[in-house]
Amino acid sequence: MSLFHALVRTKDVDTVIHQNDEAPDGHGDGEDGGSGGLRKNLSARDLMGFGVGIVIGTGIFTLTGVEAKNHAGPAIVVSFLIAGVVSMLAALCYAELAAAVPTAGSSYTYAYTTIGEIFAWIIAWDLVLEFALGAAVVARGWSGYLGSALDLPTAFFGEDSTVNLGAVFIVLVLGTVAAVGIRESKLVTNGLVVVKVSICIFVIVAGAFFVKASNLTPWFPPSEPVSGDATTSGLAQPLWQWVSGVTPSAYGVAGVFVAAAVVFFAYSGFEAVANLGEETEDPGRDMPRGLIGTLVICTLLYLAVCFVLTGMVNFKDLDEGAPISEAFNSVGLEWAGVLIGIAAVAGLSSVILVDIVAMGRIAFALCRDGLLPKSVGAIHPRFQTPFRVTVGTTLVVAVIAAFVPLATLAEMVSIGTLFAFVVVAIAVAVLRRTKPRMERPFRTPQVPLLPIVSAVCCVGLMSSLAVETWLRFLVWLVIGLAVYAGYGYRHSRLGRGATGKTGTPA
Ligand code: ALA
Repeated sequence: MSLFHALVRTKDVDTVIHQNDEAPDGHGDGEDGGSGGLRKNLSARDLMGFGVGIVIGTGIFTLTGVEAKNHAGPAIVVSFLIAGVVSMLAALCYAELAAAVPTAGSSYTYAYTTIGEIFAWIIAWDLVLEFALGAAVVARGWSGYLGSALDLPTAFFGEDSTVNLGAVFIVLVLGTVAAVGIRESKLVTNGLVVVKVSICIFVIVAGAFFVKASNLTPWFPPSEPVSGDATTSGLAQPLWQWVSGVTPSAYGVAGVFVAAAVVFFAYSGFEAVANLGEETEDPGRDMPRGLIGTLVICTLLYLAVCFVLTGMVNFKDLDEGAPISEAFNSVGLEWAGVLIGIAAVAGLSSVILVDIVAMGRIAFALCRDGLLPKSVGAIHPRFQTPFRVTVGTTLVVAVIAAFVPLATLAEMVSIGTLFAFVVVAIAVAVLRRTKPRMERPFRTPQVPLLPIVSAVCCVGLMSSLAVETWLRFLVWLVIGLAVYAGYGYRHSRLGRGATGKTGTPA
């Protein structure tokens, strides 16, 4: 087999589904863990509930304040709209693959069955980044709201901290929960969805009474040239400005796009709905409804919350740690600020847990496929979880959450997620040509136009991210390629011809 053919070797779709049935990991629900024949009992409504539960998080509760203050002003609403539309295009691509390859492995498996092993590896490596840093971002948001609700020292809680002990604490607690395999009960998960949606509705309704036109004028702050500003010049400026040599600026159209690229984080996670393809009653019908419904609900809530928040407080005065709670404090409704803080703390915990669990599962899938050493993803005999990798990554996430600012981390998650969306869009178009007869219960409309537009929009948003974010991302990819060249390429289960049989890493 030539090197090229080895790199683009693909798994057979039937093998993937067979694999799901044969590789129990104790979690009972995944590509990484095997389903043992999952019950197909989820409806489009269940999918939306699940989606909204994991999508709403630090993006809306915290990044709104950070990005309105530093980049977009009240036009943060437009930034959220742009990010929502780009996510919607990606969702239409995910829906075709999620319905056609109904497996819990999501984009990693789609890439493995369509465009080849090297791309699958890159996606998985990218997903590890997305989940690990996603957990760190949400942990910092959690800490900000806890600090605000309980009036804790800002040196250790929120974005002004030197060492964010609040974030470290919650990462360690939830990392332990994930490592010993305590799963959230469906009741708790559903409860938290209600809590999060309720806070958004409360903010919209109660906050509307305090919206002042003066705070919303100018709604689209004019572009301001910046020089020497650490957040908007040098390597912190967007890639396209750096490449084109345009003078770095804040606010204006460029600022709205920068904010859109960062708040894209707020929509990340909806792809996880696609992981439930195997458990959905009628994936062809329910998967697109679940994915698109999730995004429509979140987009509407996000736009309204942004409008109210920037109407309550002048964008220059927004708090960066717990902007929503502090907005209510500033209009004299301290009780509401505390209530929102407590509810946000509860709601954000579930997002951190989902991220940490997902990280372990991806590593497990990679070990099972021979792309990482089996010992890394070994299943703990008592807890039945990928214990070592969960504990190891939790410790790394805790250190990152202690020191790296929330917006910097969110940019990394955004670039990783956008990159995965580009690959998924390419996979949809490629698969239509290479496997035209494959059964597709849902077909993305206007292929190849829509996937091409989706990929171009994602790359466009990526170009609004900081040069330093690109550099960090490239370094991460280079490390990933080195790991693949040094290990995965030679140990790949697919490469060794053992695709039909699967087992639990030992
Ligand atoms: N979309 C999730 C959030 O905003 C990850 O926290």
